[in-house]
Amino acid sequence: MSVTALLEGPGAEVLAAACAEYRPGNELQLVEKLRRRYDAPLVTTAVTQAALRHRAVAKFGPDAERMYFTPDGLEQATRTTVSTHRAARLAATLPGARVVDLGCGIGGDLISAARAGLHVTGVERDPETAATARANLSALGLSGEVLVGEAESTDLTPYDVVFADPARRADGRRVFDHNAYSPPWSFVTQLLQRTACVKVAPGIPHDAIPEGVEAEWISDSGEVKEAALWSGQLSPGTSRRATLLPGGASVTDAPEADSGPVGKYIYEPDGAVVRAGLVTAVAAAVDGWLLDPRIAYVTASTYVPTALASAYEVLEELPYKEKALRSWVRTQGIGTLEIKKRGVDLDPAQLRKKLAPKGSASATLVITRIGRDAVAYSCRRVTTSFPVA
Ligand SMILES: C[S@@+](CC[C@H](N)C(=O)[O-])C[C@H]1O[C@@H](n2cnc3c(N)ncnc32)[C@H](O)[C@@H]1O
Repeated sequence: MSVTALLEGPGAEVLAAACAEYRPGNELQLVEKLRRRYDAPLVTTAVTQAALRHRAVAKFGPDAERMYFTPDGLEQATRTTVSTHRAARLAATLPGARVVDLGCGIGGDLISAARAGLHVTGVERDPETAATARANLSALGLSGEVLVGEAESTDLTPYDVVFADPARRADGRRVFDHNAYSPPWSFVTQLLQRTACVKVAPGIPHDAIPEGVEAEWISDSGEVKEAALWSGQLSPGTSRRATLLPGGASVTDAPEADSGPVGKYIYEPDGAVVRAGLVTAVAAAVDGWLLDPRIAYVTASTYVPTALASAYEVLEELPYKEKALRSWVRTQGIGTLEIKKRGVDLDPAQLRKKLAPKGSASATLVITRIGRDAVAYSCRRVTTSFPVA
């Protein structure tokens, strides 16, 4: 049964009842209870929707309580923090623009664009998903239209900006190769010849990004979420950018940086900075240098707070040998051990298990490679690049 059955009348009533009483794990009892008053298919649809709303809070915050979802649509939707940032950037360059979202899903991006004062039209090939997006605009009191259709056959002339967030799933599985996107990459690159913004996976190879297009890697609370490609009037002339949410710090330049021996601090650049290839911007920000020219760790002799990286104070260099590390953990009474690594082939969880942490002290072990040698540093975490809750 479609979500549209839940929009009014008994459907809306049973959905409100399901949402009020839904708790993870109580689906069966809830269905049984509501079936005494409502039709079985309606109850199943409402309880499924209540469960999706509950799950959607992580992406949509308080809006989730009023929104409608399909399982796939929720899975693929952009989280509000990221879509809000993108919509604000778009609206700052082209206030009030007419935006068409090709493959709008359940409307995650559409909602933020409408809220940013843009005139939105969504195009979605799946009718149920399109109906969900339409219901979401209406539930949140936003104007805009959603059409059922194919991205490739949409007439783009009425719009100032094209937005696309191609599906990166096939047969229920995530696809990592941009050549497997839908609508396809060949169509995406055509869009990027006009004024457009396209959301892509953060693993997009740099050499796949067309000339003159800015790629912006975005992280949220330290986790890289996606990249967005900006073209035409939306491309500011820079080629790469890293933006770190929720603070919004942004960096675009990669100055030259030296490499040299470890200083008093090690800085671990945020993943968006690393993906964007802008690690040397961290070196510039903290008056530091790279530990190794090919590895994304920066070191410096002083502590300089920066939103671009987490900082660790270096306490001691340790041999990268299991026996020596185990003895270090034991003699220091380390019970909480954070392991950071770059450029070395190891599984931090497995190593932690082997080192058997026990005790009340906590420490961070930074393991990396300098030239051909693996090295380990015992450290104390000073700051994270994002506020920890
Ligand atoms: C990643 S989702 C979009 C998510 C959306 N940005 C959000 O935040 O909710 C991609 C959507 O594009 C739709 N789609 C894929 N290929 C399409 C095409 N050729 N034409 C129209 N829609 C398409 C899929 O059905 C899917 O709902």
